[in-house]
Amino acid sequence: MHEEFNGFEKVCKVSKLNENEGQHFKIKSIDVALFKVGGKVYALNNICPHQKANIMHDGFIEDGFVICPAHGWSFSLIDGKMNEIGCKLDSYEVKIIDEFVYVKVFGKKFNWNF
Ligand code: FES
Repeated sequence: MHEEFNGFEKVCKVSKLNENEGQHFKIKSIDVALFKVGGKVYALNNICPHQKANIMHDGFIEDGFVICPAHGWSFSLIDGKMNEIGCKLDSYEVKIIDEFVYVKVFGKKFNWNF
């Protein structure tokens, strides 16, 4: 069932997400990784820019960052930015409405500033 609210797509119940663990969902054909950390939900593009691998949901959470499980690039949960290099993951707005997670996705923005 497809439900939408002001451009935000209904994804899942908050309770379906485990604390400090990622899960990924296709939202309007975009692969999005959701993370619940400290009870707050964050949404980032699931594709690591290093080798274009859709594995960010399997990343480790540490100090507000998600660390790619393949080679350790880390991205802020808040805005998807890396500390080390100029590229970033797209980050998406999240709303919680009646215990459900809603995410507002947009088309891929290219942020390859090597
Ligand atoms: S694929 Fe993510 S750091 Fe290499």
